[in-house]
Amino acid sequence: MNSFRFWSPTEFIFGKNTVDKVGQLVKKYGGTKILVHYGGQSAVKSGLLTNVENSLKNEFIEYVKLGGVQPNPTDTMVYEGIELCRKENVNFILAVGGGSVIDSAKAIAAGVSYAGDFWNFYEQTVTINKVLPVATILTIAAAGSEGSMSSVITKSKEGLKRGVSNPLLRPVFSIMDPTLTFTLPLNQTAYGIADMMAHVMERYFTQTPNVELTDRLCEAILLAIIKDAPVVMREPGNYNVRANLMWAGTLAHNGICGVGREEDWASHGLEHELSALYDVAHGAGLAVMFPAWMQYVYTSGIDRFVQFATRVWNIEFTGDKKETALKGIKALKDFFSSLGLPVNFEQLGAKASDIDKLVETLKINSGGQLGNFRKLDMNDARMIYEIAAAN
Ligand code: NZQ
Ligand code: ZN
Repeated sequence: MNSFRFWSPTEFIFGKNTVDKVGQLVKKYGGTKILVHYGGQSAVKSGLLTNVENSLKNEFIEYVKLGGVQPNPTDTMVYEGIELCRKENVNFILAVGGGSVIDSAKAIAAGVSYAGDFWNFYEQTVTINKVLPVATILTIAAAGSEGSMSSVITKSKEGLKRGVSNPLLRPVFSIMDPTLTFTLPLNQTAYGIADMMAHVMERYFTQTPNVELTDRLCEAILLAIIKDAPVVMREPGNYNVRANLMWAGTLAHNGICGVGREEDWASHGLEHELSALYDVAHGAGLAVMFPAWMQYVYTSGIDRFVQFATRVWNIEFTGDKKETALKGIKALKDFFSSLGLPVNFEQLGAKASDIDKLVETLKINSGGQLGNFRKLDMNDARMIYEIAAAN
């Protein structure tokens, strides 16, 4: 196991009716004038936003609202948010929604405290050293941003989707009421499942030896998701499975599964180009790219793929490593298909004729290299996109 530092100060308030506590929590963390940031219409329609406002009013907390964050959030909304926060002297940001809203809130929180262009953080030319506190009320189990130190934003003009990671971006608190996810459409539920599984697998596929404990944590989370996913598709109002999936999404990406081991992240890099170009859901893109990445790299660490097949998918090891590894990859692909997720370019609505374009922007965003399980260059990336197109 490698040496590590792990700092994860987020307070999680999990369970039914926890939204009522938001006013008290904002007060506890020093918010006096806050920005309530939200997405399209789901939080308005469900009555969630009204509940939030009532709780804030009960504690006499002043607030301004900024809604309309779209999936794959853009810089345009971030600039608008920064301006509003400065004008209104906001000292705290509350994100009500999913990964897109939370990531937009994190970008605003970093941008308000910085005199230059917030995009510099995403170009990694400047390091974030001051942020407004961000808190979240999560409405979809997926990206894990409610506990993560990352934010992913798309620069709309150039179509560049980029992430930044900094411990200061971890929310101070996150309210997680699984009943809020009952209204999620089935496709969004499935995209979320693919994303959280991908967050575990980006950490699971490592060349770092002697990581049995974190291997087992990863496997436990994957097994729980695999058990609950078909149930939630049949019973979207089942509290217990929604609760398990919600917490799985947080544990998948708050960092606990990746400590002491080198993580990969090539599949995420490959995917971000798809969601930037086609504006498809991040989880849908991952369901296409992760199996394709596996098909390309499995020979670079076949024992780990045999472990994945036998421990996660319960496939019997017959003595043939290659056969077992490939069965594990197929099991993942079949599982994604069973949830109605796309597993190839055609099902995603992507075109093989765009591969040049995808590789071109990937080169800009990645600096021409990605991944750790196997170090990939742009030629490798092209081959993986070709596998995804042919699958
Ligand atoms: O905008 P509304 O109307 O709220 O609709 C949203 C949106 O259309 C809807 N939704 C959310 N909660 C709902 C609901 N609909 C009904 N009932 C509810 N309770 O779901 C749609 C998707 O929401 P979004 O926030 O985009 O989903 P997700 O949480 O998957 O976030 C995706 C974004 O997060 C980034 C992705 O790249 C993508 O931009 N990621 C962020 C990460 C991080 N910050 O750590 C890590 C991830 O790897 C990922 O890259
Ligand atoms: Zn992801």
